[in-house]
Amino acid sequence: MPPTLKPVIIFAEKKDLDPAKLVRLYQQAPWAKGRTLHDAREILRHTDIAVTAWDRDLLIGFGRVLTDYVYRATIWDVIVDKAYQGQGVGSSIVQRILNHPRLKKIELFWLCTSRPGFYEKLGFSSKEQTGMVWSRTNQPRLESSDRLIFSPYKDAWSIW
Ligand SMILES: CC(C)(COP(=O)(O)OP(=O)(O)OC[C@H]1O[C@@H](n2cnc3c(N)ncnc32)[C@H](O)[C@@H]1OP(=O)(O)O)[C@@H](O)C(=O)NCCC(=O)NCCS
Repeated sequence: MPPTLKPVIIFAEKKDLDPAKLVRLYQQAPWAKGRTLHDAREILRHTDIAVTAWDRDLLIGFGRVLTDYVYRATIWDVIVDKAYQGQGVGSSIVQRILNHPRLKKIELFWLCTSRPGFYEKLGFSSKEQTGMVWSRTNQPRLESSDRLIFSPYKDAWSIW
């Protein structure tokens, strides 16, 4: 494309996309590099709202939300293709999430980030919130003990 022609970026709320396109984006973020096609398919299936940005059929931006639609929403995996960064795509994805008609009642959006500067410009603050994280990779190996599992036969949770 000649350098003077800017691509036309289209934004869409969309979960039914080719997971391979999401894997291509994940490979550009250090914390998501190892995610597989299977992971991406499952992530999309269980995500409540996904906002995507497209240059024709190329997925160039992504962000997703897990929410109860009433009180809380968490924002995950905001990524913009390196070639399209610095053009407002990432901000636009986050703003589209914050202004989404189905999220109008949400009083608190929450996210984890190693890029606080980006989110501070969008009104996020780390001052009022305390957070704690349980990371599976940092845990000592758990010995087998009682665990809960849903039994489709008893229609109830039971110990396993
Ligand atoms: C962080 C990211 C999504 C920003 O997307 P982007 O489209 O380049 O961002 P924008 O062009 O909308 O930038 C908006 C503003 O944030 C600033 N900004 C962008 N990236 C930033 C960063 N990493 N740290 C601090 N500020 C940043 C920009 O300078 C811009 O400021 P301005 O409005 O004063 O010009 C993108 O760099 C990215 O995908 N990074 C890799 C994945 C990642 O770390 N995502 C964060 C999820 S936790």
